Amino acid sequence: MEQVEFQGFGGIALAATAFGSPENPPVLLLPSLGQVREFWFGSAKALAEAGRYAICVDLRGHGDSGHSPDGHYELDAYIGDLRAVLASLSSRAVVVSAGLGARVAMLAAGEGAPHLVTGLALVDTNIWVEQAVVDRLGGAMALRTASFDDPSKIVDAISAAYPNEPRPSLTERTMAAYAQGSDGQYAWRGDVRALAAASLPDLEERLSEAAARLAAPVTLIRGSLNETVSAEVTQRLCALIPGSEIAEIEGAGHYAASDREDDFNAILLDFLERKAPRQPLTFIRGSEPRVLRDALGCFGTGVTIVTTINEDGEPIGLTANSFTSVSLDPPLILFSLARSSANLETFEKAGKFAVNVLHIGQQPAAGRFATRGVARFEGIVWSQRDEGGSPLLEGSLASFDCTTHAIHDGGDHLMFVGHVDHATFEPHRDPLLYFRGKFRRLHFA
Ligand SMILES: Cc1cc2nc3c(=O)[nH]c(=O)nc-3n(C[C@H](O)[C@H](O)[C@H](O)COP(=O)(O)O)c2cc1C
Repeated sequence: MEQVEFQGFGGIALAATAFGSPENPPVLLLPSLGQVREFWFGSAKALAEAGRYAICVDLRGHGDSGHSPDGHYELDAYIGDLRAVLASLSSRAVVVSAGLGARVAMLAAGEGAPHLVTGLALVDTNIWVEQAVVDRLGGAMALRTASFDDPSKIVDAISAAYPNEPRPSLTERTMAAYAQGSDGQYAWRGDVRALAAASLPDLEERLSEAAARLAAPVTLIRGSLNETVSAEVTQRLCALIPGSEIAEIEGAGHYAASDREDDFNAILLDFLERKAPRQPLTFIRGSEPRVLRDALGCFGTGVTIVTTINEDGEPIGLTANSFTSVSLDPPLILFSLARSSANLETFEKAGKFAVNVLHIGQQPAAGRFATRGVARFEGIVWSQRDEGGSPLLEGSLASFDCTTHAIHDGGDHLMFVGHVDHATFEPHRDPLLYFRGKFRRLHFA
């Protein structure tokens, strides 16, 4: 554990404690409004043990961080601080944050800097808040301006603000936000002006727009009994953030990260291992095939629909990106068909096939021809060069009409080599691409 200091927006000093080796990938842990960095120490230790460099930072005006001399505690000041901290790290970080910290992280990354972070774990995060909840949060904030003669009264006051949630335990981290004065009273450690951060209702639009623009993996973690962040709003937020996921901690209120620390850490570590793995993943013979598939997914390809005609003269087809050119003289191409394909026998018997290279407008077709149990050819305009010929999809970027030249064993696939009898192509459209498990399009910088 090491004390570090960052320069925030406008040069304000931000106090931080770091755990683990700085050589490891960084994870920045940002507290919620009114909380101090000690809140995250337990998780930070677990992260360090799991090979991460975990840095807990105090927000401006909180804990040991500097106070803004002219009272700059508006949201943009917090955002500026976070951006400054992230920019000073040697590599891009995952940010773990709750409440205000989470909103600051969403805005810092979502407003024009989507690649600022490699992932976000947002705890107890809501961007649409009912007035009743705002009032209750106000009540919780009043805790910070009161002083207490006994630490247990702090927990009483927190518990009164969240009457239907499990009573939080009196831990060092709860107490870390308070200091005992010479009068023996415990008072919140910070600049009370910092507690007046921008109110949620004014931010809904800004937060929704930022959330929709997040590009890094996001997990939304909530205690199942959290009163101020319901399951519904979490689902709504999840629907807004592309590719995000929800993890719920059963039986926990909004102090899940501290009171159910083991459950919380397990969720966090699982998210990091899946979405921000420490080292490039390695495939060795005998490993999970999925890892090899992910490695192969680093090779960007075009997308085709391979077609043929069955014995009843009906069109058959499936999406395939295993298309490869083989030879110019003789003109040969190939694609690989999974032995598990429902159409394996048809392709083997037909003695012919066509490969239709797709353009970006054909992405819906690419999705449909990779799905079982749907009428794949419905709404698709196609033709044949002659009766019984393979279906050529209208508008394709290119279509290669082939006679089957050879079928080779290819493990769990069969390699169909085709002799190209006829090829047409359309030079003006952009190709549909496939890379790392997603459809993509060309982007010229
Ligand atoms: C982008 C993409 C590429 C694919 N490439 C192949 C491929 O090369 N060979 C293959 O057998 N399946 C491939 N598939 C999977 C098939 O399209 C999918 O399993 C389909 O349901 C098979 O249908 P079938 O069993 O009716 O033949 C691909 C799927 C997608 C989305």
